[in-house]
Amino acid sequence: RLAARLPHGEIVAVDADPLLLGLGRAYYGPAVRFVEALIGRPGWLGALALDRPLDAAVSTTALHYLGEAALRRVYRDLADRLRPGGVLVNGDHLRQDAGRLCEIARAVGRRRAERQRACGHEDWDSWWAAAHTDPELAALLAERRSRPLPASEGEHLTLSAHLTLLREAGFRHAGPVWQFGNSHVVVAVR
Ligand SMILES: C[S@@+](CC[C@H](N)C(=O)[O-])C[C@H]1O[C@@H](n2cnc3c(N)ncnc32)[C@H](O)[C@@H]1O
Repeated sequence: RLAARLPHGEIVAVDADPLLLGLGRAYYGPAVRFVEALIGRPGWLGALALDRPLDAAVSTTALHYLGEAALRRVYRDLADRLRPGGVLVNGDHLRQDAGRLCEIARAVGRRRAERQRACGHEDWDSWWAAAHTDPELAALLAERRSRPLPASEGEHLTLSAHLTLLREAGFRHAGPVWQFGNSHVVVAVR
């Protein structure tokens, strides 16, 4: 979407998973530069070989993998690399602060998914099961097995914990611009 909307932009896509990077390269080709990196590991931003400040950093359903220390580092690293006025946009599943609201938010999200018939589609586990049976993906899956893939360590972090970390990292404004259930789009402006 970004490549289509910003044909003159340089788009760098980052993930730690060789299979997903391989699928991205096969589908999007040269419109995007793909980089394998473990986001949040000290020095991870160096792997991106950026030669100028960033206009935007965009993520979907990935940053909830990061534990608090790694997330703090990532928000600081990105605040340092974004130009003044640049944005971080994160679409992610983030917990509510109050335990009771977590349950309600989950129920609201589930009912919306049912109304949109999203549950009738392949889910995460069945997608992976199907990928493992596809001979065309065997080499990428072997590569994947040789990598230290990220564990999901930040699912307990709430929306307000993310906003606090963003402000402490140096973002001037941070807040949700869209929310449904526990799905949020958070924008932070440098
Ligand atoms: C649910 S998938 C989302 C993939 C993609 N962002 C999208 O929206 O379609 C989560 C992705 O986050 C990646 N990921 C999680 N933690 C990561 C980390 N620390 N470094 C790099 N990639 C990470 C996983 O490898 C996985 O591809």
